[in-house]
Amino acid sequence: MSFWPKRALILGESGGIGSALSEALRVNGVEVVGLSRSRDGFDLADPATVDRCLGMLEGTFDLVFVATGILAPSQHSPEKSLFAIEAEVMAEMFKVNAIGPALILRHIPKILTPDRPTVTAVLTARVGSISDNRSGGWYSYRASKAAANQIVRSAAIEIARKHKNACVVALHPGTVQTAFTSDYPGYEKRTAPVAAAQLIEVMKDLEPQQTGQFLDWAGKRVPW
Ligand SMILES: NC(=O)c1ccc[n+]([C@@H]2O[C@H](COP(=O)([O-])OP(=O)(O)OC[C@H]3O[C@@H](n4cnc5c(N)ncnc54)[C@H](OP(=O)(O)O)[C@@H]3O)[C@@H](O)[C@H]2O)c1
Repeated sequence: MSFWPKRALILGESGGIGSALSEALRVNGVEVVGLSRSRDGFDLADPATVDRCLGMLEGTFDLVFVATGILAPSQHSPEKSLFAIEAEVMAEMFKVNAIGPALILRHIPKILTPDRPTVTAVLTARVGSISDNRSGGWYSYRASKAAANQIVRSAAIEIARKHKNACVVALHPGTVQTAFTSDYPGYEKRTAPVAAAQLIEVMKDLEPQQTGQFLDWAGKRVPW
């Protein structure tokens, strides 16, 4: 049976992928509620704003999509060597990319529509895969996304105990042309609307028994 949401919540709706996904869902008749740091003060680095924004939401959602994330704090870039590691930068990366999704996920049991199939998807990244790491570097980004994957997996197990129809997954969107990748002009990138359409196709095929998986934009399992 194909999953299709009536009501979706997009966290990080201001981002390249978040905005494209929001638009694609809206034009297809989904009621979308979006939250963003720049527009709503929804700041993952400030847990009180996360609780306030999520606590103010009314009603429940069939789809919750976490599209937030950073490659590096502003004025920084991913580390190319061990020597480049800075404690404060790494802490900031964990705050936004790993603790941030965890702060969101702790609200999920309250905001999922009961008695209907639901999907909760968190954008992580293939470079967060430990077994797929063949080139090293990018310590903070890789480690923060690996931590996010583990948090998604644990949340999936816990949420499944009471929400039998819930599917909670980590998704890798592929390389997408957004502000996120603007410093990497040489890479082949898909546009955000194309990436959003592909992610929607993946989510449409999700079943509750797939909860806890890490999937890419084509629906293929990514190794942890
Ligand atoms: N683009 C790619 O090629 C690619 C590849 C692999 C994985 N991903 C993952 O996909 C996700 C989205 O990427 P994107 O390309 O759409 O990036 P983007 O265009 O740079 O958007 C990033 C989003 O994250 C939000 N954000 C950043 N820091 C935040 C904070 N402290 N609190 C709350 N929101 C915050 C931004 O909010 P404001 O703008 O409102 O501040 C924005 O909505 C990220 O997790 C990224 O790791 C992307």
